[in-house]
Amino acid sequence: MADTKKVIFKIHRGETVQGQFASRTEEFEVEYGRSTTVLQALESIKADQDGSLTFRRSCCASICGSCGMVINNRSRLACKTKVRELVDGVADKNLPASDVIEIAPQKNQPVLKDLAGDISNFYEKVDTINPYVQEGKEADKQVNKSSFEQVNMVSNCIMCGCCYSDCTEMAASPEFLGPAALAKAFRFVADPREGHKTERLKELSEKNGIWDCTRCGMCVDACPKDVAPMEAITKLRTRAMEAGVTDNPGAKHAIAFKNDIAKAGMLNEPMLLLKTLGVSGAIGQLGNALHLAKKGKIPSIFPHKVEGVQEVENIFKELDANPIEVETKQEDTGPGAG
Ligand code: SF4
Ligand code: SF4
Ligand code: FES
Repeated sequence: MADTKKVIFKIHRGETVQGQFASRTEEFEVEYGRSTTVLQALESIKADQDGSLTFRRSCCASICGSCGMVINNRSRLACKTKVRELVDGVADKNLPASDVIEIAPQKNQPVLKDLAGDISNFYEKVDTINPYVQEGKEADKQVNKSSFEQVNMVSNCIMCGCCYSDCTEMAASPEFLGPAALAKAFRFVADPREGHKTERLKELSEKNGIWDCTRCGMCVDACPKDVAPMEAITKLRTRAMEAGVTDNPGAKHAIAFKNDIAKAGMLNEPMLLLKTLGVSGAIGQLGNALHLAKKGKIPSIFPHKVEGVQEVENIFKELDANPIEVETKQEDTGPGAG
């Protein structure tokens, strides 16, 4: 290989032996050139150093979605990630330079062997949102190019699982539907031909759905196809509220939050809890409240306004007069663009 350098790959490996999962890390020295990808480096390790190294790949062109793995602590496609960029760092991509390249299987799913995870849960969750257009009375016969602007962007998803792997809510609540399934759900809610939009929005507003996303943004960073799942979730929330799907803790919390800020410029947290969860739900949080009280962290239940609340009121008046367009088309350069 002309003009090559060497770098160490530290690979997390593991497999089930006699019913017990045993993991280890192993280091391999790899030669790389200007355009060598992480996938090519793994192929060379498998061909020349250890044929038992296990990982998935197919297209080698960021299309099939099978080579998602954790590369230097973030989920990425191995076939789209250049070794040189990881070693040298790229300021524009917020990628620090690194002497060693660490490779691990995707997070939030069990490992089958080495870098290959069990992706059944990921696909089962996508399946639960009924990933197809359904006939029904809300179906619109008028379909034009502009009505597909939103659908195009989420249609670029290649089911690589990178967003699912990096999702912080998924780590805390494994039953959360997750960014890919929710982005896919938006693809059908936004499709003019879909006949059960409101029913979908009701289901998506239940526990483990759109309101459980913490808006951490990790899925947006992780997605190699610019699907921006968090944005799709925000749009689903907006559509659910517009469709009157508000009888759930997530929507109640959002409404109470907005009303508190609009009136006082600050939250009345005890009342926010009551308005979100109702009396019985709030009683269930008494243990937490006592814990906070012991630490002297219970906020006042008596409403008061921040200084200069008039400015906050003016912002809300302006927003009421000129609402922000949440569904602004984002630049769409993926294979579904056009
Ligand atoms: S923004 Fe929401 S869906 Fe995306 S990674 Fe964070 S919690 Fe998960
Ligand atoms: S939304 Fe992006 S990161 Fe998530 S599965 Fe689809 S292509 Fe992969
Ligand atoms: S091998 Fe197909 S996306 Fe990487």
